[in-house]
Amino acid sequence: MAGSAQIELREVSKRYSSRGRSSLVLSRVSLQIACGEFVVLLGRSGSGKSTLLNLIGGLDRPSSGSIRVDGQDLVAASERERSFWRRRAVGVVFQAYNLIPTLTVEENLRLPLELLGAPRRRAAAAAREQLAAVGLDGYGAAFPDELSGGEQQRVAVARAVIHRPSLVLADEPTGSLDLETAQQVLALLQDLCRERRMTLIMATHAREVMGMADRVLGIRDGRVEALAA
Ligand SMILES: Nc1ncnc2c1ncn2[C@@H]1O[C@H](COP(=O)(O)OP(=O)(O)O)[C@@H](O)[C@H]1O
Ligand SMILES: [Mg+2]
Repeated sequence: MAGSAQIELREVSKRYSSRGRSSLVLSRVSLQIACGEFVVLLGRSGSGKSTLLNLIGGLDRPSSGSIRVDGQDLVAASERERSFWRRRAVGVVFQAYNLIPTLTVEENLRLPLELLGAPRRRAAAAAREQLAAVGLDGYGAAFPDELSGGEQQRVAVARAVIHRPSLVLADEPTGSLDLETAQQVLALLQDLCRERRMTLIMATHAREVMGMADRVLGIRDGRVEALAA
């Protein structure tokens, strides 16, 4: 796939219909993202950032248009094919951390690997190594609610990259953190993705992130346009 886009959207539209009302959230969006790029998606609340991330991550399907990621046609693929691909190739970081509260930190980190069939011992070793890489050595036996917000988000970052996906989607990952903690989490996410050549697409309305990205896309009135990085 060298030289070609990892992600390609062509004329993608997304319409939601509920309670007799219908709204066009994305209107004929076309874009390409290369392997290893760090792209920031900037837009106000309700502009369609999560919608676009969900489409690229294969969680949802467009109303029309085509989406190819890693050579997969996500529109034509079955639900099963998409979820299999997603498990292997995508890591996700959410605003609300979304760690599983009844599992320890280490168990949370083992999960993506075990779902891919890794033996428990290997998953445990990888979890400990990944924890150290996010500066949380020794936190494996803790439960998520024993950690601060910033620490939980570092665990969530570790969980998103532990299976070495080709694509990391971060949906307002610093929206619940104070500025200083937010900067640390951002730097960590960027470093890990760059080190492993993973593509990072981050939705945010925090303009401070703009300077860190390779490319900034603005989303407004259903359209996506390039902004100066
Ligand atoms: N499942 C859904 N059903 C109906 N409307 C939705 C759904 N998801 C999102 N929307 C609407 O689509 C618009 C864009 O939402 P979203 O992609 O979540 O924006 P953002 O992430 O930029 O805040 C909003 O008006 C939202 O209310
Ligand atoms: Mg959102």
